Amino acid sequence: MSLRQSFTAFCSFVVVVGALASSVVSAEDSVAERIKPVGKTCMEGQPCAAAIVAVASGPRTGEQVYTAKCSLCHGAGVLNAPKLGDASAWGPRVAERKLEGLYEHAIKGFNSMPPKGTCTDCSDDEIKVAVKYMVDKAK
Ligand code: HEC
Repeated sequence: MSLRQSFTAFCSFVVVVGALASSVVSAEDSVAERIKPVGKTCMEGQPCAAAIVAVASGPRTGEQVYTAKCSLCHGAGVLNAPKLGDASAWGPRVAERKLEGLYEHAIKGFNSMPPKGTCTDCSDDEIKVAVKYMVDKAK
């Protein structure tokens, strides 16, 4: 290889390395870009929604609390928990205790229903809207 050829080869090497380096940088940019809008791309009901709910400020909606904290038992009927949308499981409870009675049981606990459904960082109002959400779904 002549000196000139090796110089040319060296130059193209530098160009290739430079191009690689800048593509790495832009790959990092696009990763940052993909991570950033988690709040927009994460749909409610997905596990990641619970994490967002936890950091979001302000009271959570009944659906958010239900999805994050109550669905674990009330989704599948774990320990015979009345299932979401099951009118025959919820109807008699609503008739007997009214919303106020259900709120109280949800907040203080009732048999295998743990106090606040184990949601220690839920306010009483957040528990109430979650109960209301389940009761409304069972109508
Ligand atoms: C560890 C499982 C579990 C979790 C988590 C859970 N529950 Fe329950 N829940 C139960 C079970 C079991 C019952 C049925 C208790 C019974 O009737 O003996 C129940 C019953 C209830 C009732 C009916 C009480 C009544 O008086 O009939 C309400 C209301 C309720 N849960 C609300 C909630 C809310 C709101 C959440 C989430 C913040 C939640 N639960 C999370 C297990 C759970």
